[in-house]
Amino acid sequence: MNLRYMLSRIAHGQFMGRVIIKLGGGLITDKQQYKTALKDRIDSVSRVISEIIDMGHSVIVIHGAGSYGHIEAKKWKISEGLDSEISENQFSAIDTIQRDMDELNSMVMESLRGVGISCESFPPRDWVNGIGIGFAGDVSRFERNSEDIVPVSFGDVVPVIGEKKFGILSGDHLMVRLANELPDVVLCVFLLGDSSGLLTGPPDSDSSVLIERWSKSQGLVGEHDSAIDVTGGILLKLQCASEIVESSDHVWFMDGRVPNRMLEVLSKGETIGTRIVRDNQS
Ligand code: IPE
Repeated sequence: MNLRYMLSRIAHGQFMGRVIIKLGGGLITDKQQYKTALKDRIDSVSRVISEIIDMGHSVIVIHGAGSYGHIEAKKWKISEGLDSEISENQFSAIDTIQRDMDELNSMVMESLRGVGISCESFPPRDWVNGIGIGFAGDVSRFERNSEDIVPVSFGDVVPVIGEKKFGILSGDHLMVRLANELPDVVLCVFLLGDSSGLLTGPPDSDSSVLIERWSKSQGLVGEHDSAIDVTGGILLKLQCASEIVESSDHVWFMDGRVPNRMLEVLSKGETIGTRIVRDNQS
């Protein structure tokens, strides 16, 4: 065993497993206002991530786009692929979206570095082809147990083979591939920006209550706000989470405004939020 690896493990204690965290675009940006990042929220998640690393876990961070991606992507139908009638506008929108996503990614990276975390970014456009969970791309680059570097990636405009030429890969799809293909995943969390988990109705309604456990047989709950979202909102997250539970026991939707709850799950196995379970899971 390499000495550097041994020393880093001794310094940080025993390896406790991998934690994969998605910072939803609705948590880290104001989805309605073009390019409005909510830095305080990013910082408070970063502080908790640093505690998770101190506990001995290896962390992967994925973030969404919010108003750094969806608004322009919606306007120029980027998720539908090449449209010859508006192709020039589409290519210029792709440049804008990728630049904007780089800006948001830099904010996330800066925030992580600000609490002493070493991190490295892997923009999907550089290593992914195709969209959905079947995209072509090797996720083994995220397996970095031997170094204390947090890999970071995000939803992005990616190349697609064939007539479509491009499309949008959601960070939720990345979550599925990472959770299902990397070893030692102990927790997979989707951090939300407007609710404590999956609710029975809209977050702003008094009659909506938290669903504490959800499995696929309960059916999809929630609405996809297609006026804003080009990926799939809460419905996509549920579909992705139900794929992930096939390989991971702890899959949660949590309130990203209260990120300490991630520590509760890691220490006690329980917290306020929605635990996504397999249909036959006890
Ligand atoms: C969307 O990624 C990427 C772009 C629109 C460029 P996500 O699907 O992961 O983003 P959020 O979390 O819904 O904002």
